[in-house]
Amino acid sequence: MTGLELVGEGRTADVYALDGDRVLRRYRDGKDVGTEAAVMAHVRAHGFPAPAVHHASGPDLVLDRLTGPTLLSALTTGDSTTHEAAAVLAGLHTTLHALPPAGHPHPVAPGDTVVHLDLHPDNVVLTDDGPVLIDWRNATDGPAGLDIAYSALILAQVAVDPAADLGPLADALVGPFLEAAGGAPLDHLEAATARRGRDPQMTTTELEQLATAAALVARRALELP
Ligand SMILES: Nc1ncnc2c1ncn2[C@@H]1O[C@H](COP(=O)(O)OP(=O)(O)O)[C@@H](O)[C@H]1O
Ligand SMILES: [Mg+2]
Repeated sequence: MTGLELVGEGRTADVYALDGDRVLRRYRDGKDVGTEAAVMAHVRAHGFPAPAVHHASGPDLVLDRLTGPTLLSALTTGDSTTHEAAAVLAGLHTTLHALPPAGHPHPVAPGDTVVHLDLHPDNVVLTDDGPVLIDWRNATDGPAGLDIAYSALILAQVAVDPAADLGPLADALVGPFLEAAGGAPLDHLEAATARRGRDPQMTTTELEQLATAAALVARRALELP
């Protein structure tokens, strides 16, 4: 888009500065942001650190502009240790899963809470007010353990990819994250792997390596003290 400064580019969205305070996040695939905006408003109303939504229509979200490095960039520069990062990720899970379900996009099953299903270090911005969780594309209601298994699986997918520069870093994070997050992620690993396999954003290579990644999560979970 001409005239606006591109401040972020992920796998699915481009993020432009509108001014010092707000960004426009636009999906490249035209996906509708309705559900995502509703879940973000729900978690914010309960005090969870997600950017405020000012406007949502079609593939466009206007959000509070966050200032600070992502947790991934803090890890790569050495400003955050593996154990600190594991604690940040686990803390966001714990806080999120204490909230009542959002009721979007489908009715809620007993025991369900809000689940983000893409909670990884590149979706956490370290602001002066603390870590803020972004990128709510996959958010829905579900069991907390599914969200934790999903995060571990995302880390493990990077860990088992021989072409990923971040492989060793991701590999070092899987165990500490599982330990800090607690719960029973192995109970949800099969469901997480199946769901991840249906994600249209997965590349062929990622799909080929998914079972290996799931096996790594299982191994690390069983190794926990
Ligand atoms: N509210 C925001 N304020 C500032 N930067 C943001 C904001 N939301 C996203 N970004 C930047 O844009 C990048 C991509 O956004 P994200 O929501 O994660 O989309 P994707 O689904 O494409 O990963 C982020 O890694 C971050 O650098
Ligand atoms: Mg992202």
